[in-house]
Amino acid sequence: MVEVVRASADLREIVSDYIPLKKSGSRYRALCPFHTEKTPSFYVDADKQLFYCFGCGAGGDVFKFLMLYEKLEFPEALRTLAGRYGIAVPEPGARRGEDSDRQKVLAVNRQALGYFREQFTRPAGEKARRYLAGRGIAPETVERFLLGYAPEGWSGVKAHLARSLPEEQAVLAGLLARKEETGRTYDRFRDRVIFPIVNLSDEVIGFGGRVIDGGEPKYLNSPETAAFSKGENLYALPLAKEAVRKEGYAVLVEGYMDAIALHQAGVAHVVATLGTGFTAGHVRLLKRYTDRVVVNFDPDAAGRAATKRSLEVLLENGFEVQVVALPSKQDPDLYVREHGVDAYRKRLTEALPYIEFLAREVAARVDLATSKGKVEALNGVLPFLARLDNPVRRAGHVEMLATVFGIEDRMVLQELNGAVRERRRDLGPAGTAAAAGTRLVSEAESRLLRAVMDDAGVREALLGEIVEEEDLERSRITEVIRAIRRLVEKGDDVTYPRVGADISDAARELLTRIAATPHPPATLEEGRGCLRALRAERFQRQMGDIQKRLERGGEAAVVDELLRNKVTLKRRIEALRDASGS
Ligand code: UTP
Ligand code: MN
Repeated sequence: MVEVVRASADLREIVSDYIPLKKSGSRYRALCPFHTEKTPSFYVDADKQLFYCFGCGAGGDVFKFLMLYEKLEFPEALRTLAGRYGIAVPEPGARRGEDSDRQKVLAVNRQALGYFREQFTRPAGEKARRYLAGRGIAPETVERFLLGYAPEGWSGVKAHLARSLPEEQAVLAGLLARKEETGRTYDRFRDRVIFPIVNLSDEVIGFGGRVIDGGEPKYLNSPETAAFSKGENLYALPLAKEAVRKEGYAVLVEGYMDAIALHQAGVAHVVATLGTGFTAGHVRLLKRYTDRVVVNFDPDAAGRAATKRSLEVLLENGFEVQVVALPSKQDPDLYVREHGVDAYRKRLTEALPYIEFLAREVAARVDLATSKGKVEALNGVLPFLARLDNPVRRAGHVEMLATVFGIEDRMVLQELNGAVRERRRDLGPAGTAAAAGTRLVSEAESRLLRAVMDDAGVREALLGEIVEEEDLERSRITEVIRAIRRLVEKGDDVTYPRVGADISDAARELLTRIAATPHPPATLEEGRGCLRALRAERFQRQMGDIQKRLERGGEAAVVDELLRNKVTLKRRIEALRDASGS
């Protein structure tokens, strides 16, 4: 499957969608999109279907490019490319020829989206159009957010979907609900403005629907399905990601309408949660683009336990969190309509670090004139401060707290240290990250690998001669050579992307770097020369070991054995030298 998509996708074409490429010899060249540079060191090799930047070392195949550029996970990159080239991707676990539940849900959603959008333009949609216009939403915004209308009645969507899909499938997608008693199905969304929820692969994964005339619940959302999870998706992220990257932070709001109103006003780095708290899944999504969030929740919400937990999730994951509080309890949508976008942007720049926001909020609640009040105030914020993973940042807040609470720095610090100690106990001993010493590849190793990669004849001969455990002992190219062997044994083509698909990230990086370095065509002789150089290196290493052990001395029999080994090694090294003709 991956191979089918890979074979259809053209890296040069995909890269050109994002950055202008210039032909340069047999390759294409550009300013690297992954770091800042003035002269282009980013190359695309259309033959090898690889890209590489000599400046920052980023490199890989077409999937890797999308993953880096669009910050996608591999399955998302795969789906995006498959979608673009019209290839159906089976989900893991799906039987051959049978759509996965996820695919089924997406198929229903696509149909439903078409229906909702069409209804919006029909006479029945007049209500929805008037409602949105009344809230200041322009027609272009409706288009941009794919807004729609689910008409009144119990079977509008049902009848539409029934034309092309089994009823069960529509239930699976949550578009139809089922009456327990009778088993009859009916439209979940009735007489509501529809907010399609789109993911980073451009798939409509679910819907939100808002009542128009009032009624409960105000918002109804698709249930959790094989394609939709509220805790794993953020509303408007696909439309916001570029701006988030540019601005350096994301604005987090609570409501669909808040996100839409801000986008319309030109504040595009805004995403909304989907009526749930902030989860680890959200963190993972956002982390791709930024580690700074300005939270603009309902001011009442900021004090709520659920919100505090949400913000903690962000803090614990190393996010810098700031809070905007809009006056007179306005939500972002109302505020920007009333005061304009400049005023809103100003509010964003005045956002307070979360700790300070919390401190001020606590300070307003307790009586700081009493020592009881001071203790209460400190207790209100120290647990959060202790959670900051960065001690420097932590210390930076001490003075602020002392000022806001009107107490001494020393007292804040003392209490803070206590809180941090307590938290450490909770978490257990810190994991020691074993610094894996990675040896760089030598020139001989990279040349050998090139020789094996680039020419089938040379490859066959060399694979017969390389003794992995010995020649490549401790080498970082061993993993790559093994992957090549596997392909050869299966009778598959040995191409850079194929080999790269089958090895660890570190090995792939190495392979890509080697592949991207221009070099003359490899010959068998060159490959053999490299192999000899590696062997000589190993013999020298062994020689050194023997020498060290000889110096330590020992029983006569052992010393004898060592001396014999030394002579053999010497002879081997000489033989290698002779073979190299030097
Ligand atoms: P709000 O009621 O603050 O949303 O709920 P809003 O966008 O400001 O609503 P209006 O249209 O301007 O009145 C915030 C979010 O909480 C979820 C929705 O995701 C909503 O956007 N929510 C709210 C629900 O899921 N169900 C509800 O009944 C209410
Ligand atoms: Mn609102």
